Amino acid sequence: TVSPALLCALPKAELHIHIEGSLEPELIFALAQRNGVALPYDSVEALRAAYAFTDLQSFLDIYYAGASVLLKEQDFFDMAMAYFERAAQDNVVHAELFFDPQTHTERGVPIGVVIEGLTRARREAQARWGISSALILCFLRHLSQASAFETLEAALPWRDHFIGVGLDSSELGHPPEKFAEVFARCRELGLHVVAHAGEEGPPAYIWSALEVLKVERIDHGVRAIEDAALMQRLAAERVPLTVCPLSNVKLCVYPHMSQHQLPALLAAGLACTINSDDPAYFGGTMNANWLATFEALPQLGLAEARKLALNSFEASFVDEATKAGWR
Ligand code: HPA
Ligand code: ZN
Repeated sequence: TVSPALLCALPKAELHIHIEGSLEPELIFALAQRNGVALPYDSVEALRAAYAFTDLQSFLDIYYAGASVLLKEQDFFDMAMAYFERAAQDNVVHAELFFDPQTHTERGVPIGVVIEGLTRARREAQARWGISSALILCFLRHLSQASAFETLEAALPWRDHFIGVGLDSSELGHPPEKFAEVFARCRELGLHVVAHAGEEGPPAYIWSALEVLKVERIDHGVRAIEDAALMQRLAAERVPLTVCPLSNVKLCVYPHMSQHQLPALLAAGLACTINSDDPAYFGGTMNANWLATFEALPQLGLAEARKLALNSFEASFVDEATKAGWR
C-alpha cells in the first residue's frame, strides 16, 4: 500500500471536473440568498441529505437544481475560486474545467457572463496558487444537436477562452452519434474534443465517441472492460480515460469501491487518470478520490500511483513544452 501522505503530495492534473459540480451546499445557500432565488430545501443539511443517488439521472436532477442559484459573473467567479483553492491544497497543478452553458442560458444567463466569471477565476488562481487551467465547453446530450449548434455559435465570440468541447448529462438513449455534425464543426474550428461515454452507457457508445466524434479522450469509459476489442484499441492508441472513482460508487456504477475496475483497466495498458467529476456531490475532492481508491484497492501500489499522476499530465491538452517542464 502507498502512504496517504505520498498520494496527497503527488503533483497531479485534474481533467474531469464539472465546475457546477464543485458548488458546495453552503455556497448554494449563500448564492440563493444573495440572488433572491428560492430553494426547495430548508437548510444546508436538508440539501445534503438529498444527495443519495441511485443512478446518473437521480444525481443530474439535483445538480441542475443546485446550479439555479448561479446568475451573475461574480457567482461563477466565486464558485470557481472555491474549487481552485481546494485543488491547490490537493496539489493539483493543472485543471481542465468542464462547464455546461445550456444549464445557464436556458435560465436567461448570457453565455458571456458564465465564461467571463470563470475566466477571471482562472487568472486569479494562476496568480494566487500557480494553478494553470483551461475551459472545456460541454453540450448537454439530453438536448438536441440544434441546441448544441446554437450554444457553439453563442460561444464563438469567446473562442479563445475555451480549448475544447465535451458531451455530458443523461447518457442512456443519447449516444455520441446524435452530435456527429456539431463535433465535426468543432474539430474544424480547431477545438479539442472529448465525450462522456461508457459511464452508464454500453461499450458501443465508446466506439462511436471514438469513430464518429473522433474524441481525444473518453470521460469515464469504465464500461470498456466489457469489450476486449475496445480495450485493445484504447490501449494501442493510448486514448486517455478520465476515471472518477467516487462518482462511480455514488452513482451505483459499482456497489463498492473494492469492485472498481481501475486496476484492471490500468493493467491492460489503458491511460487512466483519477478525477473528482462533481466533488461537492460525490464525497470529495481530487485527493479524496485518490485516497478512497488506493485504500479500497490494495492491487494499486506506488507504481500505479506514479503512472496515474504521469498519465494525468500526458493526457492534458497543454503544449509539449509545458509537458516537458512537468516531467
Ligand atoms: N456524467 C454525465 N453528466 C454529468 C456528470 C457525469 O458524471 N457530471 C455532471 N454532468
Ligand atoms: Zn462527468
